[in-house]
Amino acid sequence: MKINFIYLLVISVFLFCFCSHKIAIGVEDPGAGIASPSSSLELKGKIEPFDPNLLLTESIQTGKELFSDPKLGSEGKTCISCHSDTAKSLAGKIQTYPKFSKIAKKVINDVYQINLCLTKPMKGQALSPDDDRMSAILAYLKSL
Ligand code: HEC
Repeated sequence: MKINFIYLLVISVFLFCFCSHKIAIGVEDPGAGIASPSSSLELKGKIEPFDPNLLLTESIQTGKELFSDPKLGSEGKTCISCHSDTAKSLAGKIQTYPKFSKIAKKVINDVYQINLCLTKPMKGQALSPDDDRMSAILAYLKSL
């Protein structure tokens, strides 16, 4: 009789835990286990096929265009105004940074050098290193 009582008690505790667990899951997450069509659509949108090489080619092209864009400055000057034969005069130069600059009188990196040209003679706004236009200018210079 005693053993039967303990046996019943164990089973009822087990059943109670099992049922309350199910109820808790139901209350906390009513959509659990159901694949919602909207979430699978969102996922599809995120997996866009893209070609990294194509993006780099586009960035290089943008950089080339920025070289003759007077909107980067406020004096009507462009990079081409001073670096006319860009391919010849600047080829292989960007890879030499960081290096000592006579103008800045310290060791500077490539972004600093481009911003020197942008802000001093061109009287434009300095571009932040993570600005897509700065990346494009750097990509173009590196491609020369
Ligand atoms: C008014 C003329 C002028 C304009 C406009 C100009 N630069 Fe320069 N740039 C210079 C001069 C002068 C130097 C050389 C500075 C030095 O030797 O420290 C130079 C140096 C550079 C260098 C480093 C070359 C090396 O040998 O290390 C890069 C890269 C560069 N310019 C990019 C640009 C870009 C990009 C633009 C346009 C956003 C631009 N420059 C606009 C005059 C100009």
